[in-house]
Amino acid sequence: MTQTMKQEVESRRTFAIISHPDAGKTTITEQLLLFGGAIRQAGTVKGKKSGKFAKSDWMEIEKQRGISVTSSVMQVEYDNKHINIVDTPGHEDFSEDTYRTLMAVDSAVMVIDSAKGIEPQTKKLFEVVSRRGIPIFTFINKMDRDGREPLELVAELEEVLGIDAYPMNWPMGMGKNFLGLYDLYNQRVELTHPEANGDNDFLPLNEEGHVDGDFAFKQSTIYDQAIEDAQLLNEAGNEFSPEAIAKGKLTPVFFGSALTGFGVQTFLDAFVDFAPSPSSKMTEDGVEVDPLDPQFTGFIFKIQANMNPAHRDRIAFVRICSGEFEPGMDVTVNRSQKKMKLSHTTQFMADSRETVKTAVAGDIIGLYDTGNFQIGDTIYSGKSALQFEPLPQFTPELFNRVSAKNVMKQKSFHKGIEQLVQEGAIQLYKTYHTGDYILGAVGQLQFEVFQYRLLNEYNAEVVMTPIGSKIARWIDEDVLDPNMSSSRNILCRDRFNQPVFLFENQFALNWFKDKHPEIELKSLI
Ligand code: G4P
Repeated sequence: MTQTMKQEVESRRTFAIISHPDAGKTTITEQLLLFGGAIRQAGTVKGKKSGKFAKSDWMEIEKQRGISVTSSVMQVEYDNKHINIVDTPGHEDFSEDTYRTLMAVDSAVMVIDSAKGIEPQTKKLFEVVSRRGIPIFTFINKMDRDGREPLELVAELEEVLGIDAYPMNWPMGMGKNFLGLYDLYNQRVELTHPEANGDNDFLPLNEEGHVDGDFAFKQSTIYDQAIEDAQLLNEAGNEFSPEAIAKGKLTPVFFGSALTGFGVQTFLDAFVDFAPSPSSKMTEDGVEVDPLDPQFTGFIFKIQANMNPAHRDRIAFVRICSGEFEPGMDVTVNRSQKKMKLSHTTQFMADSRETVKTAVAGDIIGLYDTGNFQIGDTIYSGKSALQFEPLPQFTPELFNRVSAKNVMKQKSFHKGIEQLVQEGAIQLYKTYHTGDYILGAVGQLQFEVFQYRLLNEYNAEVVMTPIGSKIARWIDEDVLDPNMSSSRNILCRDRFNQPVFLFENQFALNWFKDKHPEIELKSLI
């Protein structure tokens, strides 16, 4: 291992932003890129707002994706750190891919709208990240607007998400009266509107926690209130603990406004200090693979299909876990033991689709795929075979019954379903009593992609009947009794032949639990 490789790996910060739509993920991403010396100009992260076209218009979605995929991984250099921002598709794009992306990052930034607090999608994404025990940083956004009381927001964060919070800074007012940040971590005040000559936007705190000197903002009760709140937090709040942050047990909280850029750099400076560089990853056999290990290894966490409607190509996204990627290198796909050369057709799906020069642990590369990869595949160089731990499966919430429109096309229908399910594009269930197919997804777009791909790649037209949202719970085979099925649940088998109940709603689930207290109902993530 060369010293440079060690430095390279240690400079990596690979993270995802998790938030509810409209909280400001795009805006803050643009700001981070700008602060980081902007490979990309603000305003170009998303070519279009995804809400501007009809959901069912898949071709349009494809076009949109053509744009958004280049921003699937954004890279920026900041403070001698190499930052990889991995996009988590939201809005209509929300799918299992969104969750799986979180398996490829080393930390997460949670953006919260100060007027809204914790919203449903933030909570779902948080839960997936939280299970991994990786650091989660919180940015409470839109302080330039009137929002909810900061103390209330922090309390909600702790109560709803069950994570301890440590405010690194505290807002002095909000909306029109947003004076700036009372910055506990840096022991300074950061002003939105610097006074005097304009070069005093950062003012140090003295031992009493006050700013020395004659400044107009000090006359405001807002300043006193911020100090009071900060003292309260100091006495009654959580203790600052880098260890707890590293384990994802304590989230450092920052306030600011992504739109005006205020507080973003302060956030970024602390983030690069506390966010971890890539760590070891476990194989299926319990062996730790060190990121500095010279053997090139990585796993596929996402496959993006039909980038170009004229071809059947797909892009497989690989998170590198160790070693160094070099164009033209030979690798083996562990599942199939297929050997392949990562040749010139391989491109970095980073900023400008440049061909990859080199990439190390923490980086994400995009490989053109003609059907060789599946989600969860491990690839490696050299001879010692390995398989990383499987990616978790996620409990779907939306379900559709599906059948082939034309009975003559049954064969291609089955082939298509089998392959797309294996690829991880969607989940498949077969009803116990009637043998019908039911598809499960976490986002509506997954069904549309499925339907489109089945038609275009397998020439099979499908009929899909939504059966609404259900609560899926798995049971052990040995307790299965087909008579447990009722009008309020559908008994199925998943693609691994495991029995699973699809409950109509929480009420139906509770009713079942009361009736069969001895039966353990299991959910996926
Ligand atoms: P998203 O990616 O999380 O969905 O959110 P995005 O950044 O697109 O922001 C959603 C809306 O919130 C945008 O307004 C954006 O300008 C606004 N916004 C983001 N950060 C801030 C902030 O700090 N303060 C204020 N006041 N607004 C903020 P929009 O009108 O919906 O979109 P646009 O037409 O301005 O692009």
